[in-house]
Amino acid sequence: MRKVLVTGSAGFVGFHIALRCLQRGDAVRGVDNFNSYYSVSLKEKRSKILREFPDFSEVRASINADDILADLLKKDKFDSIFHMAAQAGVRYSLEAPYLYTQSNIDGSLKLFEALRMHQPSSNCIAASSSSVYGRSEQMPFRESDAADQPSSLYAATKRSMELIASSYVHLYGLRIACLRFFTVYGPWGRPDMALFKFVQAIQNRESLELFNSGEMKRDFTFVDDVVSACFSVEAFQSSAKLSPANDNGLFEIFNVGCGNPVEVKEFVRAIESSLGLKALIQNQPFQPGDVHATHADITKIQGMTGWRPKVSINEGIQHFVDWYRAHY
Ligand SMILES: NC(=O)c1ccc[n+]([C@@H]2O[C@H](COP(=O)([O-])OP(=O)(O)OC[C@H]3O[C@@H](n4cnc5c(N)ncnc54)[C@H](O)[C@@H]3O)[C@@H](O)[C@H]2O)c1
Repeated sequence: MRKVLVTGSAGFVGFHIALRCLQRGDAVRGVDNFNSYYSVSLKEKRSKILREFPDFSEVRASINADDILADLLKKDKFDSIFHMAAQAGVRYSLEAPYLYTQSNIDGSLKLFEALRMHQPSSNCIAASSSSVYGRSEQMPFRESDAADQPSSLYAATKRSMELIASSYVHLYGLRIACLRFFTVYGPWGRPDMALFKFVQAIQNRESLELFNSGEMKRDFTFVDDVVSACFSVEAFQSSAKLSPANDNGLFEIFNVGCGNPVEVKEFVRAIESSLGLKALIQNQPFQPGDVHATHADITKIQGMTGWRPKVSINEGIQHFVDWYRAHY
């Protein structure tokens, strides 16, 4: 039986990855500190679903804690490690900067150190973010872009993680892929993200805050497509293992987006039609740290792994609304 480690397993994306790994027959070890950035009860509910599988075990601890990751990797050999734990959220990084450097930089370094010491040949798939493209106005965003003008500390910590990963691959022959996720949405999503907030407000007949009149574009990506992208990259890493050319490690960055940006005000209209209700909109100015548009060029991941996104925005919103209505 294959063994995988998922950091951030009680989080939105980590939960979906862990669940799909269990469904495909892997033994899964999850690590999460259940922090209170958003509803801990939502994290508990995700964890409860995973704990129903006999092949799931959970460590409730911070990845920053002294030897947590080193001990786990010393004890068990993992075929793949999905590193999803992070302090997420662009806007909150203006309020609580040290939480970001701690989890996203120091925490990731703890993982790369543990890999270096105990399992340099395991596949590691680490979550990065489209926000690393920052103020770049060249669309669509390509992995080869400089990504050196972050608009927020969150973005800067994600880019830092990528650079640290690249140096560890170079120095120690690790196998790390950093996946730049573009606005992930779907069932069990984060309450601090637009889709959750919009659906909640419309459903409760409350007004919703729309920044910059909704005239920003986002390359929304359905969570199942994100999980399948992680698996495609994992398969690519595993096949690359066979090549002697990769003795010095394997480092790749991949965009994971739909390649089809949608204006936020269009997104609100699609939610209205899915709910059959009208939104009460409260316009707010453009927020510091935000970017005007994101648009992924996905030719690299398509060409190297064969992955392509499958879920349209209307289908994806409907899946979320169905989940939201069943749970709230
Ligand atoms: N959701 C998106 O749209 C999106 C977009 C781009 C990148 N990402 C990245 O994808 C990953 C997953 O994001 P998400 O949306 O699932 O966020 P999330 O907040 O739902 O999940 C992160 C999980 O990590 C845990 N965590 C945070 N710091 C930790 C630490 N030091 N030790 C142990 N656990 C810790 C949290 O408790 C949480 O459960 C993150 O790395 C995030 O930065 C997400």
